Amino acid sequence: MKLAPSILAADFARLGQQVADVERAGADRIHVDVMDGHFVPNLSMGPAIVESLRRVTHLPLETHLMVSDPDLFLDGFASAGSDSFLVHWEGNNNLHRTLQRIRALGKRAGVAINPATPPGVLEDIVQDVDLMLVMTVNPGFGHQQFIRTTVPKIVRVRELVERLKPGCEVEVDGGIDATTVPLVVRAGATVLVAGTSIFGGGDGVAAAMTRLRVASNHTNDQPEPAEQSAM
Ligand code: DX5
Ligand code: ZN
Repeated sequence: MKLAPSILAADFARLGQQVADVERAGADRIHVDVMDGHFVPNLSMGPAIVESLRRVTHLPLETHLMVSDPDLFLDGFASAGSDSFLVHWEGNNNLHRTLQRIRALGKRAGVAINPATPPGVLEDIVQDVDLMLVMTVNPGFGHQQFIRTTVPKIVRVRELVERLKPGCEVEVDGGIDATTVPLVVRAGATVLVAGTSIFGGGDGVAAAMTRLRVASNHTNDQPEPAEQSAM
């Protein structure tokens, strides 16, 4: 299980320190949420943040583009130091071209799907990606409640990956905390994005990350997803 702290929930006034803290605590990559106020109703950060972070961490910088036209921003983020890009299936009529552009830049490529998007859309694109991201909240904001109906979808994406491209990572993003970690890990997610549950706690990021790792070993303690959604 890999942890990708989302800096959307970090204290931007001491961002470098917070990233150093999660790196020391064993984070696997840093998740950078980019929002354009159009694809999602919120604004966040641009390449300048990535450029600054590139100087203070050795961790891979994963850039989640929640923007209407990701192609416009690939070069800027790649030069700034992004190592991988997550682009959305929704609203991209030229997704294959976008993925080829990412690969041409020498970066890892992933496709994200929103909670209302069926997993089957990934079937024809799986050969072109290194990771699949299942959104477990609607994109745009941190600190939202995990949407439980996404759990069976994670299972289906895991099945699709095993069938068509073993080795492709399955990642989840949104509302990931010690309660939801067992559900998503059991469903087949191997990379967990977490913002609030890592940066929002009172006892520091290392303790928070330990809680998530411990929770990932308790996949048998929770009721079945079917029972959960019936509750
Ligand atoms: C939501 C973002 C997430 C967000 C997760 O649009 O893509 O990465 O930061 O935040 P939490 O972990 O607080 O739900
Ligand atoms: Zn994200």
